Amino acid sequence: MLGSEKKSYNILFDKSTLIERRTVKINKDLCVKTMNYRMVEIRSIHSQGLGSLSFFESGRDMSFEIKRIYYITGVPANFKRGYHAHKTLKQLLFCPYGSIEIILDDGERKESIILNDSSKGLIIEEPLWREMTWIVKESVLCVAASDYYDQNDYIRDYNSFRVYRSQMYT
Ligand code: TYD
Repeated sequence: MLGSEKKSYNILFDKSTLIERRTVKINKDLCVKTMNYRMVEIRSIHSQGLGSLSFFESGRDMSFEIKRIYYITGVPANFKRGYHAHKTLKQLLFCPYGSIEIILDDGERKESIILNDSSKGLIIEEPLWREMTWIVKESVLCVAASDYYDQNDYIRDYNSFRVYRSQMYT
């Protein structure tokens, strides 16, 4: 069983729009997913003594087209950002430098994900409340997003988010 789970993890950016709750093996830790997000491996080429180059391509590696890229820099250690959810926006988050904790919350449960590897990405494709903590100062958070900036897509109040989530399934 683990073999097939590992295989599904190795498929780069599974193009299925159906996001399954499944168990995947990541960095030797067994990560049991109970929420609709996905960890993905970003293709990387490592050159001995010369670092590594990572890349992904819209339309090939992603389940959504990328319309916007943004990144957050210069954040001191232990500072937090986020405190919002998106109604429709899909995002790939990755951290090419440093270490950032992402707390995802579906209104009932919270899960912690550490982004500290330039070849690992986090895909969020449904409304999840997120809080991000900079574990290492000046870690870089990059986001590839499915749409242009739209402040109306944000939910910035937690109680409103819970109401929004509950209405999603009624
Ligand atoms: P926000 O998404 O709230 O960042 P964080 O959750 O990390 O604090 O964005 C911060 C500010 O930047 C906010 O005023 C909106 C603005 N912004 C843009 O103008 N364009 C963008 O693409 C993004 C992501 C934010």
